[in-house]
Amino acid sequence: MDPEGDPAGLVERAQELSALGELLEAARLGTGRFALLEGPAGIGKTSLLDACVKQAEQLGLVGLRARGDEVAMDSPFSTVRELLWPAVSETEAEVFVGAAQFAAPVFDVTANRGESRDRAGAVLHGLYWLVANLAERRPMLLVLDDAHWLDPASGRFLLYLARRIDSLPVLLLAAARPGEGPDPMGVPALSATADAVLRPSPLTEFGAGVVSWDRGRMTSFAAHAARRRAAIRSTSGR
Ligand SMILES: Nc1ncnc2c1ncn2[C@@H]1O[C@H](COP(=O)(O)OP(=O)(O)O)[C@@H](O)[C@H]1O
Ligand SMILES: [Mg+2]
Repeated sequence: MDPEGDPAGLVERAQELSALGELLEAARLGTGRFALLEGPAGIGKTSLLDACVKQAEQLGLVGLRARGDEVAMDSPFSTVRELLWPAVSETEAEVFVGAAQFAAPVFDVTANRGESRDRAGAVLHGLYWLVANLAERRPMLLVLDDAHWLDPASGRFLLYLARRIDSLPVLLLAAARPGEGPDPMGVPALSATADAVLRPSPLTEFGAGVVSWDRGRMTSFAAHAARRRAAIRSTSGR
């Protein structure tokens, strides 16, 4: 391992970053994949997602991200709405042409909640075409963090899209903690569908040492900066 870590500032994650880099490159060239980052809290999933978004932007992909949230479980498609909203709000109505029009109620806050918004087949089909229309403009990375807490409608769309992703220039990347969330079979269903499952290992003792050394350095740097600010204030009489 490089004791300095990699350019993303993560230690002992070169393998994961390289696998994600290859998946991004494949998506950029038109072959979409669904990848799942699986592991317990604190293992470094969100940090890898952050690094992947940066890599995607460097490669010219649009990076969109959202996370599952226990408190939004009752709102159908809330996470999908959060995920796609920045792209949808920036584009004209033409991304809703053809079958994508069936996805419009998901983004229409005045639409009736419940049945019409969650009309399973048509809306899933519409959302798929919406993603296809958006990706036609620029390849995309779609990131769903804490996927064990997706509202059920967003969870269905994630699986629906994952099964059809290969012909789109899209890397769909989710992170989840196995055994957590309302549905014990939720994460196993995701990993059974994924083209690639990455399970980051716990850091070695050496890697953990590098991280805590780095944190110590940051803390002493912050303390030094605070002392300097205080000294400047006291000499300037403020
Ligand atoms: N490989 C790594 N190198 C350096 N710091 C890391 C690494 N993995 C995780 N961390 C740090 O550990 C903490 C928890 O990581 P996080 O990505 O939030 O984990 P998770 O999303 O799996 O709960 C964060 O402060 C993060 O910066
Ligand atoms: Mg996390």
